[in-house]
Amino acid sequence: MRANEQIRDRTGDVTAGADPRAAGRAARRDAAVRAAVEQGFLDTDAPLVGLLDVTGIRESAADLRAAFEAVTAPGTPVLHAFAVKASPLVPVLRLLRQEGIGAEVASPGELALARAAGVEPGRTVLDSPAKTPAELREALRLGIAVNADNPQELERIDALVAGTDVRSPLGIRVNPQVGGGSIEALSTATATSKFGVALRDEGAREWVVQAYLDRPWLTRLHAHTGSQGIALTMMARGVAETYELAEEINRRAGRRQVDTLDIGGGLPVNFASEETGPTYAEYARLLKETVPGLFDGRYGLVTEFGRSLLAKHGTVVTRVEYAKSAGGRPVAVTHAGVQVATRTVYAPQSWPLRIAAYDAKGLPKEGPAVVQDVAGPACFAGDLLAQGQELPLLEQGDFAAALDTGAYYFAHHYAYNSLPRPAVLGYAQSPSGGITFATVRPAQPIEEIVTESGAAHTESLTGLA
Ligand SMILES: Cc1ncc(COP(=O)(O)O)c(C=O)c1O
Repeated sequence: MRANEQIRDRTGDVTAGADPRAAGRAARRDAAVRAAVEQGFLDTDAPLVGLLDVTGIRESAADLRAAFEAVTAPGTPVLHAFAVKASPLVPVLRLLRQEGIGAEVASPGELALARAAGVEPGRTVLDSPAKTPAELREALRLGIAVNADNPQELERIDALVAGTDVRSPLGIRVNPQVGGGSIEALSTATATSKFGVALRDEGAREWVVQAYLDRPWLTRLHAHTGSQGIALTMMARGVAETYELAEEINRRAGRRQVDTLDIGGGLPVNFASEETGPTYAEYARLLKETVPGLFDGRYGLVTEFGRSLLAKHGTVVTRVEYAKSAGGRPVAVTHAGVQVATRTVYAPQSWPLRIAAYDAKGLPKEGPAVVQDVAGPACFAGDLLAQGQELPLLEQGDFAAALDTGAYYFAHHYAYNSLPRPAVLGYAQSPSGGITFATVRPAQPIEEIVTESGAAHTESLTGLA
C-alpha cells in the first residue's frame, strides 16, 4: 500500500491515509500477531502477551527529534526526556536512549529504571510532586535536573545546595492555569491542579520571580500543561505563559538567568484509527507560531513526551478462552482486562480502545461486523476491554488485540485477582518479512505473586495474639 492510499484499519475505519507510517505499522502488527502464534508465544498456556514494535518506536523518536530540529535555531540544546511513567520497561528506555532520548522520572523506582537502562544523569529530569529529602539529595548528588514543585520543596533544595557546587540544573514547576481538557483526571493546568506553583493565584507570580532573583542557581522553568484530551492550542498557551514568565524573570534579573524551558509532554494520541495525530511536527510548528521567541536560540529546551512516543507501537494480544452470549449479545471472554487496561476498564468513555480480531492461526479475521463485548478475566462485571464494539465475531480459540496500548497499558500492572503480569515482547520485521521477537519482560511466575503476597510471613498474624 502506498503512503497516501486510503488505509482500512482493522476495526473497519477508513482513514485518510495522511500518516505515511500507518500502513507499515499495521502490516508489521498483523505479521507479529501471526508470528507470535506460529512461534508459540501465544497459545493455550500463554493466552496473553504485550507486543512492542521496535521499528515504530524508532520512527516516533526520529519524528520527535526532526520536529524540533525543524523549528529551533541551529545549536539550540534540546533534550527530549521520555516520561518513564508511560512505559517503565528498561529495554524500552535503552532503545530510546539509543535514539537520543533521555528520561523524565517521577519516583525513585523510575529513576532506578532509567539508571539501569544507562540513561546519563545529565539527560535525566526529576519531576515528582512528592519528593522526599533523600530523593532530592540523591538527585543533586547525581547531577540530575530537578524541578521543584512548590515553595516547601524549594526550601529543602535551599538547604541541600547551601555551600555546595550545584551540578544539577534546577527549576520550578509552574501551573499556568490555562484550563482543563476532556479528561479531568489528566488535566494538569486547571485552577486547582495539584501540580506546580499556581501562577494566577494571588501573589504567586511575584513569589516565583522573587524566588529566582534570590537564587542565582535557578536556571530552568517547567510546565506540563498537556495530556490526553487537551487541545493543542491550550498546550501552546501554557508554554507561552511559561515563556513570558521566563522573560520577566530575566528582565528583572538583568541577565539570562533562566536559560532553559522545560515544556513538558502531553501530546494527545489518536486512539480512534490507525493514523498518528496530532503529529510532533504540527505541535512544534504551532509552538513556533505561538511563541517565536522560544525558538530563537536564547533558550535551551527540554520536552517530556510519553504517550505519543509509545502508544501506537504497543498491542495487547489475548486468546479468546470462551465465546458466549448473554441477553442476545456475544461476549468473548479473554485474558486481558483490568490488570492490563485499568484506565479503559474503569473509565471506558475516556479511554475506548480499538479491538482487532484474529483467527486461531493469528490471521486477521474476516466476516460481517457483529456488535459484541470483549471481556477480561477479572471477577467484576465491568471488566470489559470493549463494550458493544463491532468486529468479526470472536470465537473460542481466536485472538483479540487491543490496539494503541504501548503507553500506560500493559506495563502498568494492576494486581486485582492476583493475575500475573504478562510477558512483553519486542518485535522487528526483516526485509523478507520474517518477524524476530526479543524479551522485554518475561511473564510473571505465580510463585512470585505468592512471594510478593507475604508468603515469607505466613504465620505472622496467627502468632501475633
Ligand atoms: C511532569 C510530566 N511530564 C510528562 C508527562 C508525560 O505526559 P504524556 O505521556 O501525556 O506525554 C507527564 C504525565 O503525567 C507528567 O506528569
